[in-house]
Amino acid sequence: MRVSKALLDDQDIDHLRQALSEYTVQGVQELLGDAGAAALQRGDVLGASRGFEGDEPVVTLLRLFVLGEAVSEELARKTFAPLPLESAAAGGVIELSAGEARAQVTIRPYGELGGDTARGLPWWVVSDFGFDVRPGVVRPDHVLGVNGSGQLLAGSTPRLEVARALDIGTGAGMQSLHLGTHSGSIVATDINERALRFAATTAALSGQTWDLRHGSLLEPVGDELFDLIVANPPYIVSPGTGIETHSYRDSGMAGDAVCEALVRGMPARLAPGGTAQMLGNWIITDGETWEEHVGGWLDGSGCDAWVWQWGVTEPAEYVNLWLADAGGTPGSETWIREYTQWRDWFESIGARGVASGMITLWRADEGVEPIVEMDEVPQAFEQPIAAEIASWHLRQRWLAGQTDIQLLDARLVAPPFVVLDRMDQVGENGWEPLNRRLRQVRGMRWEAGIDDSIATIVGGCTGASHLATQVALLADSLGRPFSEMAEAVLPLVRHFIARGFLLPRDDT
Ligand SMILES: C[S@@+](CC[C@H](N)C(=O)[O-])C[C@H]1O[C@@H](n2cnc3c(N)ncnc32)[C@H](O)[C@@H]1O
Repeated sequence: MRVSKALLDDQDIDHLRQALSEYTVQGVQELLGDAGAAALQRGDVLGASRGFEGDEPVVTLLRLFVLGEAVSEELARKTFAPLPLESAAAGGVIELSAGEARAQVTIRPYGELGGDTARGLPWWVVSDFGFDVRPGVVRPDHVLGVNGSGQLLAGSTPRLEVARALDIGTGAGMQSLHLGTHSGSIVATDINERALRFAATTAALSGQTWDLRHGSLLEPVGDELFDLIVANPPYIVSPGTGIETHSYRDSGMAGDAVCEALVRGMPARLAPGGTAQMLGNWIITDGETWEEHVGGWLDGSGCDAWVWQWGVTEPAEYVNLWLADAGGTPGSETWIREYTQWRDWFESIGARGVASGMITLWRADEGVEPIVEMDEVPQAFEQPIAAEIASWHLRQRWLAGQTDIQLLDARLVAPPFVVLDRMDQVGENGWEPLNRRLRQVRGMRWEAGIDDSIATIVGGCTGASHLATQVALLADSLGRPFSEMAEAVLPLVRHFIARGFLLPRDDT
């Protein structure tokens, strides 16, 4: 196992950190304003580039590291002080040519609140420029910087204090930065040695220490156990050969084998009570449902699992999307060849599309039957969603421990973010109910169609009375036996608790 070194030595890192001291999330926000900072956040470099000038360090650093512009060597020397420009060039951070300096890597301030506020240190992520700044197909060992899917994973990962965390496919290290706020130690792996050097630089600049290891998937960690594993793997579904591969997105394994390997492999690396959080893509065919396909990977895992599928992309759109993602030119010879190969392969395996989603695993206690739930989540859920994922698991475990009798004895609460939408229509007798929908105005933003009787039950969930009392009242008002009413209501109540429309009162 090779030790990955940062691009600069310790002293140069300290000097670079000093040079970057005003180039923080807040510093950039102040310079660009809300609109410019938002443009930068969504990757619109041109949008972010408008309306600033001058030669203060933050301006020069933005020009170099975000816009990819060249600046005069003199200005760069002033900006990088106390780091000698020659050291920055020797480390591959900048290149010097004809009296000008140009960045070789991008360095971006990162972090919701300007970084690890607990320790008062800002974060910087060191990665490659995208093709939006340096046009052309990106190199095969391209190192991805802060990116949308990475942010989605970061916002979905539970942030409980843990002893040992593992970041599989760390890239520039953005997941590990977050892990650093709540993990005793971090092992971060990647198959791309260049990525590991960038990650080492991200860690060093941001004042963190990670155990960086080279190798594929779980191989670098042998039989070690972790309390938290995160993975934003190179999940794109491709033939595995023939298409120009880029390790930041393509594992080189055919189909969805990389996601399958992780789902099958991670449970054995989870310590008791451990959690794993990963993003993934999987193939959709007519031969089996997505639940059967991904569910098969979880057979015998010994883990509770919540699998989300948020969308399916049909093959043509998928291939175009990913060829463009690496900076390919539509209509070029390479594009047409790779497009054809990729589409032919999709056809040969009977793929109807590729699904995107997320998988959370919780190591179940010894001898306890795991709970596996697979949900389609097409709605725009709120980010960060991690707290809701954690409470979903607590509610599922609570429900699994409740017999119907116990559930009837529980006192339930409808939280304030649950609303009832009513839609009425004029009928023979004036306004008549057309539609009733329960809706969450935050969090998962689930919706559920209900009728007036169930709406009455939910409306009665103030935590004051037992569920049985509400069921009895409803049964009386409808002239139906209690047992019949309970039989109709309980499965719905269980579903509503699972989805967070109803919560057990704290002391239940
Ligand atoms: C989509 S990027 C994720 C980067 C970063 N973790 C994030 O969340 O933004 C996938 C990363 O996995 C790495 N990778 C590709 N194949 C791998 C493999 N077989 N084992 C470990 N890492 C791999 C890539 O080099 C890349 O850094």
